[in-house]
Amino acid sequence: MRNNSDKSAQALSLYHLLDPEVLANPYPLYRRLRTEAPVHWDPYLHAWVVTRYDDVVTVLHRFSANRTPTPEQLEAMGLAELSPLAQLMTKQMLFMDAAAHTRLRSLASFAFAPARVEALRAHIREILDALLEPLLRAGRMDVINDLAAPLPAIVTAEMLGVPAADCDQLKAWSADFAEVLGNFQHNPDRAARTVQCVVEMTAYFRKAIQDQKQHPREGLINSFINAEIDGDRLTEEEIIANCIVTMVGGQETTTNLIGNGILSLLRHPDQMQRLRDDPSLVPSAVEELLRFESPSQHTARICPEDIELGGKLIRKGQAVIAVMAAGNRDPERFDDPDRLDIARPDNRHLAFGWASHFCFGAALARIEGQLTFEAIARRTADLRFETDQPLVWRENLGLRGLISLPVTFDSVMAAPVLASTARPQSGCPFHHST
Ligand code: HEM
Repeated sequence: MRNNSDKSAQALSLYHLLDPEVLANPYPLYRRLRTEAPVHWDPYLHAWVVTRYDDVVTVLHRFSANRTPTPEQLEAMGLAELSPLAQLMTKQMLFMDAAAHTRLRSLASFAFAPARVEALRAHIREILDALLEPLLRAGRMDVINDLAAPLPAIVTAEMLGVPAADCDQLKAWSADFAEVLGNFQHNPDRAARTVQCVVEMTAYFRKAIQDQKQHPREGLINSFINAEIDGDRLTEEEIIANCIVTMVGGQETTTNLIGNGILSLLRHPDQMQRLRDDPSLVPSAVEELLRFESPSQHTARICPEDIELGGKLIRKGQAVIAVMAAGNRDPERFDDPDRLDIARPDNRHLAFGWASHFCFGAALARIEGQLTFEAIARRTADLRFETDQPLVWRENLGLRGLISLPVTFDSVMAAPVLASTARPQSGCPFHHST
């Protein structure tokens, strides 16, 4: 039987991320890329792959984010059925360059003012407490299905300003759409399902916009409807497209932050103990967990003109994959990068990207992560794997996360539930009336 290093010796390609051993631990492959071919033409993905910290920063700073094929290009490629997807993605801020990107992001920033996001902290704590209470009583949980998936789904519904009872539906759409974002080149046969998902999400948000024009609710949809700079407003199609990118961006990645983070702490009990002993380390622990097992491992760009990088000539129009998770383990940038150190100083990681497309929801994700790791450290003791079965990772080239993570623990104490924060017992109980 071949071992991991023999296997990756076959061909240096990010495509090996789908090999079970590489999926379980992609860091030896990233190390090999960084040392042997830091700017590497990947013949399988038909793209350059960039793995050094400084080069990832250069790509995210200078290269074009405008990478979705237009409906016309798809038609020419015989993929006309993907046209609804392309129409949607070309209106999402993630796939735009200045000035279109600056315009959209400025209009959207009304909804994401830091003070407004910070105001959500107390309410997110309530949601988290309600999710945790039954789990603490049981002394066990599946971290992914009981906590890491529902928390961002509920928070996302409330952040958008749609009924929290819709969170299961939002979660299902987001998981489907994330397959496209993570695996677009790999899994084209999912096209029909993806297009169906786009049609359904579009109809859902179109109706939500109409409802909100009659009965406004606080949240992103309402902010998008009212956002205006010098008479410029978002069109309905732009609102729908950017609600969808925010909904997807806000869920899968945050699920992975919580799941991967708890896994890393389980694998490093000394760091878990450090967190229990000194809760003031929570903010820096979240940054380190993001660096160490980045939820979103890479992103893509298009080379805007012929550019030399790392001694290689990248031609105008060629695709470039910037592997943030590899840059986050670059020893030129981080001391002893494969060591988890929740108090690591100078931890300017790439997990939220860089420059103009730096994650729009980073403040919200940080709050969700901080509250979750603080609660786990404070309210559980002796957290341990429930089984010795091998971990199952999602088969997604870009989004790194577990399918399930069953753990058991001793509950430390039950936090008092104030009458004013008590929630109803049925359905998706977090509807926050505004
Ligand atoms: C741990 C959680 C998260 C991680 C690791 C993460 C990661 C990222 C990364 C790497 C990018 C840049 C992609 C690129 O440059 O191509 C990005 C952009 C974005 N993220 Fe996040 N994200 C997280 C949570 C969130 C949340 C909670 C939201 C929304 C509530 C969100 C919404 C967005 C949006 C809208 C963009 C596009 C920004 C733009 O193009 O200007 N993300 N995110």
